[in-house]
Amino acid sequence: MTADAITIQGLVKSYGALKAVDGIDLAVAEGDFVAFLGPNGAGKTTTINAITGLSNFQSGSVRVFGMDVVADYRRTRPLIGLCPQEFNFDPFLSIHKLLVYQAGYFGVAPAEASHRAQELLRYFRLGEKRNIDFRKLSGGMKRRLLLCRALVHDPKILILDEPTAGADLELKYRIWDFLTDLNRKGKTIFLTTHYMEEAERLANKVTIIHRGKIIHQGDKATLLGNQTLEQKYLELTKGAGEES
Ligand SMILES: Nc1ncnc2c1ncn2[C@@H]1O[C@H](COP(=O)(O)OP(=O)(O)OP(=O)(O)O)[C@@H](O)[C@H]1O
Ligand SMILES: [Mg+2]
Repeated sequence: MTADAITIQGLVKSYGALKAVDGIDLAVAEGDFVAFLGPNGAGKTTTINAITGLSNFQSGSVRVFGMDVVADYRRTRPLIGLCPQEFNFDPFLSIHKLLVYQAGYFGVAPAEASHRAQELLRYFRLGEKRNIDFRKLSGGMKRRLLLCRALVHDPKILILDEPTAGADLELKYRIWDFLTDLNRKGKTIFLTTHYMEEAERLANKVTIIHRGKIIHQGDKATLLGNQTLEQKYLELTKGAGEES
C-alpha cells in the first residue's frame, strides 16, 4: 500500500492561549486536487506552515508520503513546492537567479535549473523581466513569480496559499489552466482560496476548516449535491466572523 501524499493526525498549533489549529486530521491522496477553505483566521496558513516545516507545532504528526516532516525534514521538504500567501523573495537577486538558486537548494543541477527557470518565466510572461529583482515587478507579476519558484524543482506536491489573490482575469485563467493540466499529469495540489468559483472549477476534494477545526472533508461532488460551493460554504461557515 502506498502512503498518502499528506497525512495529518491530531495537529495542534497554539499561539499562547489561541489554538490556531485545534487537533485536525487530514489526508490527501496522491493525485488529489484539494481545495482547503475557511474564513480569515481559520487556520489554513498555519496548517500549511506545519506541512512545509515553516513553523513548529505542539502536538500531532504530519507525514508526506509516509515520512515525518519533522524527523525527515530533508527528505520531505524537496517533495513540496510552496506558493506562500506573502511575498518573501530575496531582494538582491534577479528573478532568474532567484529561481535557479531555489532549484539548486533542492538538488537540481545548474544547467537544468536555468533551463527550467527560463521556461517557467516565459510561460508566466516574465521572460523580459528575468534580469531585474522582484521589487521592480507589479503585484500580479510577483504572484506569478511565487508560482514559478514553487514549481522550479518539479515537486510532487504543490501547496498554494491563495495563488490568484490580486491576479487579473487573464492571469487567473492562465493559472487555472496550468494547474488543471499539472493535476491531470499527476501532481498533487493543495490549494487555499477565498474564490469559491476557483475551488469549484479546479478541485476534486474539499476540506473546510473553521476556528482551527476541520468541519468538512470529502469529495466535492458528494459535498455539493445540487448546491453551488458558495452556498454550501456559507452554510457550513455561518457565524465565522463572530468572536468566540
Ligand atoms: N505568528 C503568529 N502569532 C500569533 N498568532 C498568529 C500567528 N500566525 C497566525 N496567528 C493566528 O492564528 C490564527 C490562524 O491564522 P492563519 O494565518 O492560519 O489563518 P488563515 O486561515 O490562513 O486566514 P486568512 O484567510 O486570513 O489567510 C489567527 O487567529 C491568527 O491571528
Ligand atoms: Mg492564510
